[in-house]
Amino acid sequence: MIILGIESTCDETGVGIVQDGTRILANVVASSAALYNKYGGIVPEIAAREQVRVMVPVLREALESAQLKLGQVDAIAVAYGPGLVGSLLVGVETAKTLSLVYKKPLIPVNHLIGHVYANWLDTKVTEVSKVSNVSKVKNKRPEFPLVALIVSGGHTDLILMKGHGNYIWLGGTRDDAAGEVFDKVARVLGLGYPGGPLIETLAEKLARGRERSKIKFPRPLINDASFDFSFSGLKTSVVNLVHSSQFTVHNKEDIAYEFQQAVIDVLVKKTFAAAQKYKVKTVIVGGGVSASSKLREEMERVAGDTDLTVSFPEKFLSGDNGSMIASAAFFEKKSIEPLKLFARPDLYFD
Ligand code: KG4
Ligand code: ZN
Repeated sequence: MIILGIESTCDETGVGIVQDGTRILANVVASSAALYNKYGGIVPEIAAREQVRVMVPVLREALESAQLKLGQVDAIAVAYGPGLVGSLLVGVETAKTLSLVYKKPLIPVNHLIGHVYANWLDTKVTEVSKVSNVSKVKNKRPEFPLVALIVSGGHTDLILMKGHGNYIWLGGTRDDAAGEVFDKVARVLGLGYPGGPLIETLAEKLARGRERSKIKFPRPLINDASFDFSFSGLKTSVVNLVHSSQFTVHNKEDIAYEFQQAVIDVLVKKTFAAAQKYKVKTVIVGGGVSASSKLREEMERVAGDTDLTVSFPEKFLSGDNGSMIASAAFFEKKSIEPLKLFARPDLYFD
């Protein structure tokens, strides 16, 4: 079954064409992220206008790259929320129109669940052998039951999945999302947008160079029994340091390193605590922040002491893309009458 997936929830316009939920035939993504450098965050009105400008060219390029015509795909899938309303509307209305004109089933997908399914796309699962402690890369799909950590610019959630389409929300952030704090800290450090990769590059400079200084940031809720997160206090600590007389004493690299480590420590600890509590053998990570090499490294290091398998999407599939939406649609198989579908900016796990 060939599904064309559309993703337009935020500042990326993605069209992916995927066979049987796993094989990517085309994956085209246009991003307007560079336009927000001077603002330090997305400007929703600009993002929506960019979606309108590039949606059709992206769609055309994906079809050309897969050497397919619209009549040859079996279904149209679209991320209908959560996201920015103006951006979402462009993808949702495009998908409804294609479904009606080409008489194809329309499958709505929760954007966050899409990030989970990025792990089914020609996934490489890194298995760390308990005995030899040597990691080997295998082509293997994640196995249920599993715990999924979704870390993006707008969300930080832990869910338990017992099968396709069967998920239980365990906890999430009470305030800022992980990606959001990366973006805000990058802004206060004058680095630009999106913040995650910029902070990672700065932190790596320090890791390769010299001893780090003695800055210590809080790890909020790290020992709390719930699976909730809270990152706004950590963000405030960084902002306060930057605005204090102490700022000049520290290098930006030191701050980036310790901040990144604080976020990752919390994410890793909570995720493995959930995996233990629910006795799963697989942990999967998805969303823009899952592109972080340091997060991948730490997750794999901790998994090395257990019999857990950790799965990350291919890096280019960590951020928003249409292929993950097509994959989720294949496994969830919930089609809807096109005229009954509406964008749901506040969609969560319901
Ligand atoms: O999933 P995504 O592409 O869009 C949303 O659904 O929000 O996630 C974007 C987020 C941004 O906040 C960005 O700073 C963060 O992912 N991100 C990273 C890294 N690469 C992207 N955060 C930490 N480390 C990275 N290497
Ligand atoms: Zn996303």
